[in-house]
Amino acid sequence: MKIINNIKDLRDYLHQYRSQRIAFVPTMGNLHAGHLSLVRHARQNADVVVVSVFVNPTQFTAGEDFERYPRTLETDSKLVEKLTDILFVPTVSEMYPNGTNESTKVIVSGLSDILCGSFRPGHFGGVTSVVTRLFNAVQPTVAIFGRKDFQQLLIIQQMVKDLLMPIEIIGLETCRENDGLAMSSRNGYLKPEERSIAPYLYKNLLEIKEAILNGERNYPPLKEKAMNALSKIGFTPDYISIRDRKDLSVPTVKTPIEEIIILGAAWLGSARLIDNLEISSQ
Ligand code: PAJ
Repeated sequence: MKIINNIKDLRDYLHQYRSQRIAFVPTMGNLHAGHLSLVRHARQNADVVVVSVFVNPTQFTAGEDFERYPRTLETDSKLVEKLTDILFVPTVSEMYPNGTNESTKVIVSGLSDILCGSFRPGHFGGVTSVVTRLFNAVQPTVAIFGRKDFQQLLIIQQMVKDLLMPIEIIGLETCRENDGLAMSSRNGYLKPEERSIAPYLYKNLLEIKEAILNGERNYPPLKEKAMNALSKIGFTPDYISIRDRKDLSVPTVKTPIEEIIILGAAWLGSARLIDNLEISSQ
């Protein structure tokens, strides 16, 4: 595995592999088994594997955890070295040559403004602006994302379609701890007592799924109940929402239940946890 810090070296290196299948896994580092499942998939489905580690300042809104986001490059690099050809670790000025404020932004309107986007204004604009730059730097055949960040995945798919980017986008299952908690770099912010109640976010999504599978079609009370249950045990929920997974619109009576996804975001101490559950696997 080669560690590369700038775009010129990355392009020079990848030049010889342009006719091959290049898989790309963008990350912000502090890698866990969820990230590794994406890298493993990349290894199995491509000739060349590029992983990026870049804590992207533009996707953190004011007052969020950009400064304290865990930076663990040494361990990250050991975790992926056997599975990866290139670990791309650019600097902020490499990704934003014109600075982070005045530079060109890529915004997928609509989808970026709902759910997490309404609680983190500007967040998804930062994600799409950096993923476009990373895609242009790597020019992969295929890019692999996690379904844990389902809204992010849909926004990237929309962006690739709208901007005619010749990149296949793959979304893989959420990896969970044994007690159901979705793996996340932000789980490290949880204090021990918070960690023990953290799986209740997923448990509440599971209860909603059960109710829907048992025939419940009146969705608003289901989410109200889950929000109340979470608040009672110490979460501060941003939202629990039942949507159509095609476009995150609010389902109607006609929406087939296989298309439904239940999404949630809630604060627990200083960690903002997100999770989702699809009624049927794709
Ligand atoms: P990060 O949070 O590091 O996640 C990198 C990739 O890993 C994303 O595609 C995310 O969905 C996936 N992932 C995270 N936790 C997962 C889990 N438990 N199971 C499966 N996949 C999981 O998402 C970002 O970084 C950034 O927004 C990024 C796309 C890199 C742009 O900066």
